[in-house]
Amino acid sequence: MKTIAMINQKGGVGKTTSTVNLGAALAKRGLRTLLVDFDPQGNLTTHLGYSTVSERETVSDALDALLSGRDYEKCIKNMILHHAEGMDLIPANLDLSGMEVRLQSTMACEKKLTTLLKCVRDNYDVCLIDCQPSLSVLPLNALTASDYAIIPVQTNVLAVQGMVDLLKTVHAVKEELNDNLDVAGILFTLAEEQTVQTQSVISMVTMSYQDDYPIFDTVIPKVVKAGEAAASGHSLLKYAPGATVTQRYINLADELIYKLDIHEKETA
Ligand SMILES: Nc1ncnc2c1ncn2[C@@H]1O[C@H](COP(=O)(O)OP(=O)(O)OP(=O)(O)O)[C@@H](O)[C@H]1O
Ligand SMILES: [Mg+2]
Repeated sequence: MKTIAMINQKGGVGKTTSTVNLGAALAKRGLRTLLVDFDPQGNLTTHLGYSTVSERETVSDALDALLSGRDYEKCIKNMILHHAEGMDLIPANLDLSGMEVRLQSTMACEKKLTTLLKCVRDNYDVCLIDCQPSLSVLPLNALTASDYAIIPVQTNVLAVQGMVDLLKTVHAVKEELNDNLDVAGILFTLAEEQTVQTQSVISMVTMSYQDDYPIFDTVIPKVVKAGEAAASGHSLLKYAPGATVTQRYINLADELIYKLDIHEKETA
């Protein structure tokens, strides 16, 4: 299983939207795909049409089981939701916020998600982790558990703000916690491709970072349908199969499969 953290501490840059639609496109390509909601906002969970009521077992229950010495493997396996579009989901809700506080006083607090995901790694080819907009202990867990980071960047003038801190954090995690971690690519999102502003942000970021980090060729355009799909409980592949933005997410999945050499594992 190749694990990928969708990360940027800036809010509203398209992390969750890209997790849903890239995930659906990877599933459509036949890959066994697991999506992990690792944001107390629970946006990935609601985008896929599930409620975030606290009666539902969520990732924070599995963390609780792990920290309390209970059977976390059973807990994580039982909570997995099977979405109609073929991808699976480990859901989250606001309880994860309380868990974040608890994790902070726990030994090796950045490694807990790694431990949980080991229980399911043989069942999937690829796993995308949707991070909350911060660089706190939850996103650090996601980076520690991941082989790659995808950095969605909104193409407005503030896009590069915070990139230095984000990349420093990725490097620090690679040095201290997970030497397997690499940046899979910077992904331009919410692009208004005809505008001078979008074009200048894309060229500025490309000039500043292309020597050190991969940048996806695929650019995700800003379109109303992306928000509408979020309210429908489905990805764009189901909600708007013929739309340009949908094709872009399929292209992104193909770029990622090629770049990371992701294969369907034989399940004889
Ligand atoms: N390509 C797009 N075109 C138009 N709207 C979009 C697009 N991608 C995302 N949005 C909208 O922008 C808002 C933010 O997107 P999203 O929730 O994916 O960002 P995020 O980075 O996950 O946010 P947060 O940091 O709060 O978790 C949402 O209302 C979403 O519907
Ligand atoms: Mg989000």
